[in-house]
Amino acid sequence: MTVARDFDQLTVVDHPLIRHKLTLMRKVDTTPADFRRLLREISSLLTVEATRNVPLDEVHVETPLCKTAGWRMQEPVPVVVPVLRAGLGMADGVLDVMSEADIGHIGVYRDEETVRPIEYLVRLPSRLSDRTVVVVDPMLATGYSGAHAVTVLLDNGARPENIVFMALVAAPEGVKVLTDMHPKVRVVTASLDSHLNEKSYIVPGLGDAGDRIFGTL
Ligand code: URA
Repeated sequence: MTVARDFDQLTVVDHPLIRHKLTLMRKVDTTPADFRRLLREISSLLTVEATRNVPLDEVHVETPLCKTAGWRMQEPVPVVVPVLRAGLGMADGVLDVMSEADIGHIGVYRDEETVRPIEYLVRLPSRLSDRTVVVVDPMLATGYSGAHAVTVLLDNGARPENIVFMALVAAPEGVKVLTDMHPKVRVVTASLDSHLNEKSYIVPGLGDAGDRIFGTL
């Protein structure tokens, strides 16, 4: 089945640096150390787009020369939520450019037969209803675990319009499942790939992101 590739809520950040780094990540012989570094770097670059609507307060500061107006992120600060375990490979890249963020964790693995998510951990900061929430998971494949993670956030008070799902690579099938279920959630990715194969891997993709991050191949 061919899935449409136009999604209102999807932003593909195809900056030259991201395209260059993602191509290195796709290569089968890239080492886990390089894979982790590149994932962290791309995550920082994607964060710039993912946080574009973070609310600011106007503040005044004194430079060495004079007083001037400026901006500060509103409290409570945004939250980054890696979906374990592969999402951990993106969280530090987000924090590199948004060190003020708090961190939540959602642990989900996929049942290899049904490819449905099984949840094993949820630990989230308070006041989610007032925060931007950046969910990070490198591969938006079937969309089932991503949609499940968003449901967990909504159940814990997050507002759908304040949630951004940040994936390194997305399949059209996964974007459709996620945005059909959660139409107000934004999806930010470095690449909308071709399709899923019969084992629900993204093609061309980069293989199992968790295994490549942690060297568990
Ligand atoms: N998870 C991965 O790590 N890779 C895929 O291609 C699909 C799901």
